[in-house]
Amino acid sequence: GLITVNGKVVDKSQFSVDPINDKIVVDGEELVYKKYAYLVLNKPKGYVSATTDGAYPTVVELAPIEFNHREIFPCGRLDKNTLGLMLLTNNGPLSHKLLAPKRHVSKKYYFKAEDNVTECDRVRLESGVDIGGYVTAPCTVEMINPKEGYITLTEGKYHQIKLMLKAVCNKIEYLERVTFGTLTHDESLERGQWRYLTEEEIALLAEAAK
Ligand code: URA
Repeated sequence: GLITVNGKVVDKSQFSVDPINDKIVVDGEELVYKKYAYLVLNKPKGYVSATTDGAYPTVVELAPIEFNHREIFPCGRLDKNTLGLMLLTNNGPLSHKLLAPKRHVSKKYYFKAEDNVTECDRVRLESGVDIGGYVTAPCTVEMINPKEGYITLTEGKYHQIKLMLKAVCNKIEYLERVTFGTLTHDESLERGQWRYLTEEEIALLAEAAK
């Protein structure tokens, strides 16, 4: 008796609605149909960027249970031990566009290296290094101190930053994504927490994907 469609109580468990034109009210609150779901997650360590995995927990498992039937997936990958900003959505075409190499959507990461990144290493990383048969595209590397900095990529090869550091005889100790296109890290989100994207954030992402 708590659900009405166009003002009439629905008393059947099977009832078809037109999600756009019908007015659906649940316990006094109108349900607004949205075709796509967009969540931003602060990914913790130890979670894999997949929808299912036999061995490890997945980022999708951090979303609430009501998203199980909405088939959300991570837009792009972060390694199991990389933390930070991750977009979860069920909008396949948008995700595909945001990840397409030709669109050069930028991703900024904060990193800590095991050894000092010299000015010569920094310049080499920025110009492009061989990560095993592939030379990385030009990127930006800003150092905060000899071991910590930010790296901004416009592409996303598997283990790219780890392999880039390896190419200059160094190693990543800590990696966290702080931006993804127009989305920036949300300080208010604890590790493992998520929130909905705002309408403005969705519109900006759609713009970046054009
Ligand atoms: N580069 C990496 O090496 N790992 C990530 O998770 C992201 C970029």
